[in-house]
Amino acid sequence: MVLLDDVLASNAKISAALPPGLVAVFAGATTGIGESTLKTFVRYAIKPRIYLMARSSPSAQRVISECKEINPDADLHFVKVDLSFVKETDRACDEIKSREKTVNVIVLSAGELLLDRQLTKEGLHHFLTATYYTRLRIAQNFIPQLETASKTSPIARVLNVAGGTKEGEVDTTDLPALRMPFTRIRPHITSMISLVFETLSDQAPTVSFIHDFPGAVPTPLGHETPGFLGMLYRIFMWTLKYPLYRWVCVPIKESGERHVYLATSARYPPREGNAVGVPLQGGTDVESGTDGGKGSGMYAVDWDCDNRSSSVVPVLDRLRKKGVKELVWEHTNGEFVRIANS
Ligand SMILES: NC(=O)c1ccc[n+]([C@@H]2O[C@H](COP(=O)([O-])OP(=O)(O)OC[C@H]3O[C@@H](n4cnc5c(N)ncnc54)[C@H](OP(=O)(O)O)[C@@H]3O)[C@@H](O)[C@H]2O)c1
Repeated sequence: MVLLDDVLASNAKISAALPPGLVAVFAGATTGIGESTLKTFVRYAIKPRIYLMARSSPSAQRVISECKEINPDADLHFVKVDLSFVKETDRACDEIKSREKTVNVIVLSAGELLLDRQLTKEGLHHFLTATYYTRLRIAQNFIPQLETASKTSPIARVLNVAGGTKEGEVDTTDLPALRMPFTRIRPHITSMISLVFETLSDQAPTVSFIHDFPGAVPTPLGHETPGFLGMLYRIFMWTLKYPLYRWVCVPIKESGERHVYLATSARYPPREGNAVGVPLQGGTDVESGTDGGKGSGMYAVDWDCDNRSSSVVPVLDRLRKKGVKELVWEHTNGEFVRIANS
C-alpha cells in the first residue's frame, strides 16, 4: 500500500520536479473521480494546459471556472465530444492534435453504468464504448504526442481509471460482450483493457501506462442507471456510502490525490527512457508491471496505488500464452477500421 502521506508528499513536489506548461488531456472529468483528479492536478501543476473532453457544455464550463479559481494560471479548453462514438472521438482528438505537438498526461475516466445491451449507431455495446473502446482510441491517437513528451520532458503517461487488478477470464467467443451475463463483463473487460494497454506499451516503450481500480468512491456513477439492476446498484452503493463508509469507501479528495500520484510519480516509469515523473521518496520503490517485471511500463494497480501482482500476473500470463492479447488487439482495431470505413 502507498500511504496517503507519501502520496501527498510526492504530489507536493510536482511544481518543483515537473516543468511548467505540462499538457494534459482529461476525458470524463465533469464529475466524480475525473473531476477530483483534474482539480488536484490543477492545484499542483505550474501553468498547465488542459483539454477537457466532455459532452455537456454547462458541466465543462462549471469545472473549468472552478479550476480557474484554484489556479488562475491554468489554461483550460473544453472539447465537446460524446465518447460513445469512435468517429466523434477521432474528431475531438484531431482538434487537440492540431494545437499540440506534445501531450504529457492523459487521464481516462469517462463512462456510464449502462446495464442494457443496446448497441450504438456504430454497432458497439453502448456500455463498453466510453469505458473501453474510445479510451483505447484516445490513447492510441495521442501516441506520437506522448512519445514527443517522453523525449522532451520528464513525464509521458496514460492513466486509465477502471478495474485494474480485477482481471479475469476473457471469453474469446464473445469479445464485444454482447451475449455474456453482466456478472462476467467486469473480469472480461478488465483483462481486455490491461492487454491492449500492454500492446500500446510494447509499441511506445518510452510512455508509461497505468490501469487502476479506484475502490468504492462516492460519485454520481449509477445515479441515472435505469431498471432493476440500476436500483440494485444504487442500494449496494448506498450501503457502502453510509453504514460502511469509513471502512470501505475512498473519499473523493483522497481519490483525486491518489490519481494525481499515479499520473506523476516515478513509481510507475516507462519501460525505456527518462520520462519517469516525480522522483521517488525514501522508502518507496519502483512498481512491477503486469508482466511481473520491475518498471516494465504497464501497471495494474488497486485503490491504494499498489499492484496485486501475485493475482494479476498469472491471469494475464495464461491469457497471453493462449494468444488472447493478440486476439483482443485485432478485435478492437478491427472495430475501429470497420467504423472508419462505414
Ligand atoms: N466510483 C466508483 O466507486 C468506481 C469504482 C470502480 C470503478 N469506477 C470506474 O471509474 C470510472 C469513473 O467513475 P466515476 O465514479 O468518476 O463516474 P462519474 O462520476 O459518473 O463520472 C463519469 C464521467 O464520464 C463522463 N461520461 C460518461 N459518458 C460519457 C460520454 N459518452 N461522453 C463523454 N463523457 C462521458 C461523465 O460526463 P457527464 O457529466 O456528461 O455525465 C462524467 O464526467 C468509471 O469508468 C467507473 O466505472 C468507479
